[in-house]
Amino acid sequence: MVESAVEDSKVSDLSAQKSTGIRSVLITKEQIEAAIRDIAAELDAACAGETPLMVGVLTGAVTFMADLMRAMQSHVQIDFMAVSSYGDETRSSGVVRILKDLNQDIANRHVIVVEDIVDSGLTLQYLLDNLRRRDPARITVVALLRKDKADAIDVQVDRVGFEIPDEFVVGYGLDYAGRFRNLPYIGVLDEDVVQGP
Ligand code: IMP
Repeated sequence: MVESAVEDSKVSDLSAQKSTGIRSVLITKEQIEAAIRDIAAELDAACAGETPLMVGVLTGAVTFMADLMRAMQSHVQIDFMAVSSYGDETRSSGVVRILKDLNQDIANRHVIVVEDIVDSGLTLQYLLDNLRRRDPARITVVALLRKDKADAIDVQVDRVGFEIPDEFVVGYGLDYAGRFRNLPYIGVLDEDVVQGP
């Protein structure tokens, strides 16, 4: 029953115009919603009585963060950082730069870093090194996706929504060349989109 609902949703999701160029649905919107409910409950339990500062990593984590914070029962505050990582390519450049910093001090705060995807781990490593120097009380890291990659850096991630194969994925905030962020699911691109003009 659940299986067929998931199959139906995959078919209807893929029939939308914005799905042109998507080879397959890897994670449906129902699966994302269920994972977010679980993660939110765990975060609520972990921050009983406190008001954590959720730090979203722009731009890809916006969708995840918006849904995650609304699924939580605790008071939260939010802020965002932007760091350079990919440009229009599908591989990490290894060069990480802060493009937008936090608007507030995080000393003695419980910071929840919200990431869309951990690929090589370079971006998150850089971000965490930077945040730790600001003396937060503690940092919890939540990532919606983590790629199964043998050469990834061993970086702090406390909770992952989904472990995925080492493929380039889009949707639910993740883009390819600025597109596909508004898909409600996580999908895999057609080869010809990645190799196209
Ligand atoms: P990392 O530094 O290699 O871990 O890459 C992290 C960032 O690269 C993520 O926050 C994304 O913005 C981007 N990224 C990595 N893999 C993908 C992908 O499969 N699709 C879209 N963006 C990705």
